[in-house]
Amino acid sequence: MSTETPKVKTKAGETERAKVTTRLFRQKKKDGEVITMLTAYDYPTALAVDRAGIDAILVGDSLGMVVLGYPNTLPVTMDDMLHHSRAVSRGAHYALLIGDMPFMSYQVSVEQAVANAGRFLQEAGMDAVKLEGGRERAEAVRQIVAAGIPVMGHLGLTPQSVNTLGGFRPQARTSSAAKKLIDDAFSLEEAGAFSVVLESVPARLAEWVSKKLSIPTIGIGAGIGCDGQVLVTHDLLGLFDRFTPKFVKQYASMHSVMNDAFTGFKNDVEARSFPTDEHSVTIKEEQWQALLKELGES
Ligand code: KIV
Repeated sequence: MSTETPKVKTKAGETERAKVTTRLFRQKKKDGEVITMLTAYDYPTALAVDRAGIDAILVGDSLGMVVLGYPNTLPVTMDDMLHHSRAVSRGAHYALLIGDMPFMSYQVSVEQAVANAGRFLQEAGMDAVKLEGGRERAEAVRQIVAAGIPVMGHLGLTPQSVNTLGGFRPQARTSSAAKKLIDDAFSLEEAGAFSVVLESVPARLAEWVSKKLSIPTIGIGAGIGCDGQVLVTHDLLGLFDRFTPKFVKQYASMHSVMNDAFTGFKNDVEARSFPTDEHSVTIKEEQWQALLKELGES
């Protein structure tokens, strides 16, 4: 395992990678450099994502679907999120770490939103939080930011509202819905959000919003015109076999890699070809003979 400080390519050449902060998000947007973000929910994945030089790791509440096996993100609790956020923060040292606020952790009151946001930083090593919603969440965003906690917004297909949206479907495809999204994006910016995720919305709209906002947009199913891109890591790896949204590009088929490995293990064990001497612990001959003697078996 390499313990060397990773290098990154900058305009000035290769330099040692520094911890990513929200400042880099702003700087990248200003410089026209794209921002990369992936989800992680555990230590080894966080380590691998961090070593790949990804700018930000989102401990997404997608955890509920791709790791915990729920049909949607609604059952995910603060305890679930903090537990997985801690594991991620032990693995990642450079990426900006963003904890996703779960359903009902910020909707009941602004006070509760601030307190729960604080727990991500105080108890789980996160650098920032993300929450879903626009104008209706502006006061919560304002107060969380006032407490010193950077907030990322999330508009378009907001999975915690799956029941009011009528399913996981593309959003903002009518002029009035698109106008509402634009208003919501400006509300979040005005409330102090440092960035906003745009999920499953028309590419033209996302590009327009990205050009008008001063804060960076991070797209998922929102086209090439966003300031950054995010994917759910389990989708990208082909680890989640229940369904793959249209906007996902699969870079690996880990589900079948895992399946092959498990079948290989089963076959080897059943054929008694594993473990071999190579995988076994030995005992010196004289120790073995001494034992046999003691047992009266020599
Ligand atoms: O929970 C999550 O993983 C997310 C991303 C899809 C942005 O919110």
